[in-house]
Amino acid sequence: KAGTRAGASCALLLLAACSGRQSALDPAGEDAETLALMFTVMVTAAAILWLCLNGLFFYVTRVSPRRMSRKLANGLVIGGGILMPLVLIGALLAWGLSILPDHDQPGDGLVIRVQGEQWWWRVAYETPEGDVISANEIRMPVGERVSFVLDSHRVIHSFWIPSLGGKMDMFPGRQTNLSLRADEAGIYRGQCAEFCGASHAWMAFEVEAMEPDAFDAWLAAEAAPAGPPDGGAEAIGRQIFAREGCGGCHEIRGTEFQGQVGPDLTHVGSRHSLGAGRLGARLEDFSTWIAHTDDLKPGVEMPPFDHLPQEELTALAAYLKGLQ
Ligand code: CUA
Repeated sequence: KAGTRAGASCALLLLAACSGRQSALDPAGEDAETLALMFTVMVTAAAILWLCLNGLFFYVTRVSPRRMSRKLANGLVIGGGILMPLVLIGALLAWGLSILPDHDQPGDGLVIRVQGEQWWWRVAYETPEGDVISANEIRMPVGERVSFVLDSHRVIHSFWIPSLGGKMDMFPGRQTNLSLRADEAGIYRGQCAEFCGASHAWMAFEVEAMEPDAFDAWLAAEAAPAGPPDGGAEAIGRQIFAREGCGGCHEIRGTEFQGQVGPDLTHVGSRHSLGAGRLGARLEDFSTWIAHTDDLKPGVEMPPFDHLPQEELTALAAYLKGLQ
């Protein structure tokens, strides 16, 4: 009975993995569609081959050798055991290679550079006016092939947005390319797909595929420097940010905070998540993250600020959430 239950749970888990924001089997882009088709065809063909070979095996082990002619025996071994698998698997290989998406195909213009950090993502949108720096979130226009230029700061990571296409490794000191097209507007989840240390599992990001006009407006807003604090709590939060030396690691464009070690926070208040997909982006998530970075993400470079009283954490959260 326990076995049945375990089996049912496994089946449910498998089914649950077939849809949602992070599933290669629920494609929302051209390349992901090809890969999902390839998966379906490969699994089906492998199942057919498995059934055929088992059928043959079942047959020959139940027919007495004396009743089987030499010709039939040779035919079964050569035809069923060698030729059939060779032809079927060879055809699958040739077909797979012929439709495999080219990760390096030219894009439609937009270039986004992403660098893997421990354990977050440094993001730069190339524009004619210069790079627009962001972090831990990617926005891209629907219907356009975007060129991602990837590398890493210290160790190997892997950039993967299952709903949009295949994964690509990120190496320190070496550039790799991946071009992807989103065909449906929506929010998808990306995940580091190469073990990179203690918090590899917490190295995620959200991808928002937007209508081109909305994307252009967002990019223009993202390029602008941060506005001044709005209201008392935010102004106090800004003072605490300065007092605690946060600006030594984080940049907030338009302010004296110019650190380059950690993620850029210029518009952190408008992002969908904190800590590279670790938490949501509600006001209380900001104070939770700031106070408990090391519990939430073991090995993270940002120290926990759990010595701050709750009202100071709340003020800091108000300042950061206000950076829209
Ligand atoms: Cu980065 Cu795993």
